[in-house]
Amino acid sequence: MARGPSCSGVEIAVHIINGRAKAAQIEEVTHTRVEALKLRGVEPALAVILAGDDPASQVYVRRKIASCARTGIRSIEYRLAASAGEEEVLDLVDRLNRDGAIHGILVQLPLPPVISANRVMDAIRPDKDVDGFHPVNVGRLSTGGRGLVPCTPLGIMKLLDGLITDYRGLDAVVIGKSNIVGKPVAMLLLEREATVTITHIETRDLPAIVRRADIVVAAAGAPGLVRGDWVKPGAVVIDVGITRVDVPDGRTRLIGDCRIDEMDHARAVTPVPGGVGPMTIACLLANTLTAAERAADG
Ligand code: GUN
Repeated sequence: MARGPSCSGVEIAVHIINGRAKAAQIEEVTHTRVEALKLRGVEPALAVILAGDDPASQVYVRRKIASCARTGIRSIEYRLAASAGEEEVLDLVDRLNRDGAIHGILVQLPLPPVISANRVMDAIRPDKDVDGFHPVNVGRLSTGGRGLVPCTPLGIMKLLDGLITDYRGLDAVVIGKSNIVGKPVAMLLLEREATVTITHIETRDLPAIVRRADIVVAAAGAPGLVRGDWVKPGAVVIDVGITRVDVPDGRTRLIGDCRIDEMDHARAVTPVPGGVGPMTIACLLANTLTAAERAADG
């Protein structure tokens, strides 16, 4: 069991899930598979499109490109001005769709407000949609098919699978109904036969619902929302929240949705940062490789 310091500096006995270590393991496996594919004459390649100058998006894209380099995946970054129109993005997606040397296409969100994210996602070929956001991949996820699965939910399941072998009948509560995390992770938990409740901003008596949960996935983007007394002893808590807040000395800090300093009665919790975040990028690379392998296998 890992031990970690609480905010008060008191040692707590809860298992702190090490997302960085797990992500590094996944990257290692990906690297080995990339080398094997290169021996077959295929170099996996990811195209990343960044439109506009959102600072957080720039950081995320930089991290994704750096991870590609670590695993041997070729990355090509396309930067479009904030003034780029929808046609420009759609033309680029169309060109990348038809380029046989590109296996994955990622359009970083959010897009500038004049561009419809749905229209852009719908334009990406489903077999190159490494984000798993295309309606075909969403459909395959809900029918148990062989699509590409959104990266953060996939990463969450890899962390949970390290702790739980049999999900059947477990109560899982997902906080947040986003297309990127809440809905797809609920589908994956359902696939493993957990009993899944999706909650959202209008849900009544959220603490009472969370208290029933064996698994809590908090993806509300509400810093410190989930308190220790909401969490059942022995529950596994996955914190997807990542909000940058100002702290007194003029610096900023990343804060999750869960008060894990109040959760030493939980079985395991993910920290912020260093929990789910690194898994998202590791799973993006794994998805790119999967897309390249499937293309090579025909
Ligand atoms: N912006 C925030 N999260 C994501 C993600 O998972 N994929 C993309 N493309 N953009 C994002």
